[in-house]
Amino acid sequence: MHHIRPYKLFALVDAQPPERTIQMTLPFRRGAGGVTVLEMSLILAAARAVEAKRVFEFGTFLGSTTLNLALNTPDHGEVFTLDLDEHHAKGARQDAADQPLTEIHLTSKATLDFTGSPVAEKITMLTGDSTRFDFTPWRESIDCVFIDGGHDFDTVKSDTENALRLARRDGASCILWHDYQNRDYSGLTYYLDELSREETIAHIEDTRLCVWFHDPGNSLLPRLLGS
Ligand SMILES: C[S@@+](CC[C@H](N)C(=O)[O-])C[C@H]1O[C@@H](n2cnc3c(N)ncnc32)[C@H](O)[C@@H]1O
Repeated sequence: MHHIRPYKLFALVDAQPPERTIQMTLPFRRGAGGVTVLEMSLILAAARAVEAKRVFEFGTFLGSTTLNLALNTPDHGEVFTLDLDEHHAKGARQDAADQPLTEIHLTSKATLDFTGSPVAEKITMLTGDSTRFDFTPWRESIDCVFIDGGHDFDTVKSDTENALRLARRDGASCILWHDYQNRDYSGLTYYLDELSREETIAHIEDTRLCVWFHDPGNSLLPRLLGS
């Protein structure tokens, strides 16, 4: 596992200072989704670095990151976000720490952050258990994947294997994981540490984010990991 300072990822955005901007909603719920302001800006910077037009999120929850991703994709961009519905939640094997989040998600449909937003039309909500979902229609077509669904070892492994299939290979793409080094989810940290022996993965210090890039132009990874 590589460990990098946050500025290394911000520096991947190729733009002059006046254009080095993102659009981000200010948090208004304590701990909603668990993504901090720094983490949100890093997720959006990674999406910007690969010029993301098509984004896939594992774990919608209240739709906070979904909305921000939609705000930062072009007009014709698409954000797909997958979460459990009541039917699939009953059959899902979940980490005990994940169950309260799923409960909140299932009972808060009316309060999803992107409901009524001008960018809502870019967002497609998908329902199902990500470990059984058929990802075939999205294969090798996604620029940026955000993995933040079930946090147990088996689900993170399955979501990661699917994300690697979703990531487009004819240009730059990225995968981000949330909750690395979160003590509630030791299986996730163990899995990513193991995966980093075969894939180039960077943990962004001061955050619980890890990032992977497919970088056929060899323009991102040397800057991300170089001194
Ligand atoms: C931490 S929350 C997601 C937070 C959201 N990404 C954000 O940034 O605001 C995790 C979500 O993953 C969903 N989830 C858990 N296991 C899942 C599974 N097997 N398939 C799909 N979604 C799952 C939960 O219902 C919950 O809403």
